[in-house]
Amino acid sequence: MAILNILRYPDPRLHMVADEVAEVSDDTRQLVSDMAETMYQAPGIGLAAPQVDRLLRIIVVDISEHQNDLRVFINPQIIDKDGVRECEEGCLSVPGIYASIQRAERIRVRALDENGKTFELEADGLLAVCIQHEIDHLDGRVFVDYLSRIKRDRIIKKLKKGTRS
Ligand code: NI
Repeated sequence: MAILNILRYPDPRLHMVADEVAEVSDDTRQLVSDMAETMYQAPGIGLAAPQVDRLLRIIVVDISEHQNDLRVFINPQIIDKDGVRECEEGCLSVPGIYASIQRAERIRVRALDENGKTFELEADGLLAVCIQHEIDHLDGRVFVDYLSRIKRDRIIKKLKKGTRS
């Protein structure tokens, strides 16, 4: 197990589209386990592989209070969604910044598990928000990309100031 370095916005690597996992292997499982450890230590409720500089379509999510409900999605796809919901979001790659983002209220997601087996899951509430946020990372989208240019520039300035001090 290892704690991985989390890329910080506006790192251009956060805007790259991740590749599908061709085969779920021991390497994949090692990465999943490192990602989970990194997420738990941060602490956060979701992490996508591109955030740790691995351009693969893998996300880990755990919205439980005691970090004991890890969910792993490899090559996740949203196959159905409905409703609209706005929720305040944050991101380990954009520390200290929170903003309200519109998402689907309910989703149905299809993915591979750690054994390479296909499964489907219906999610709503925080879990649905979190999965959509993490899948966005696989497509090179960070939640602040939904905000206006002016707001984004302000966030970048604030993050740069934070790094310097
Ligand atoms: Ni994020």
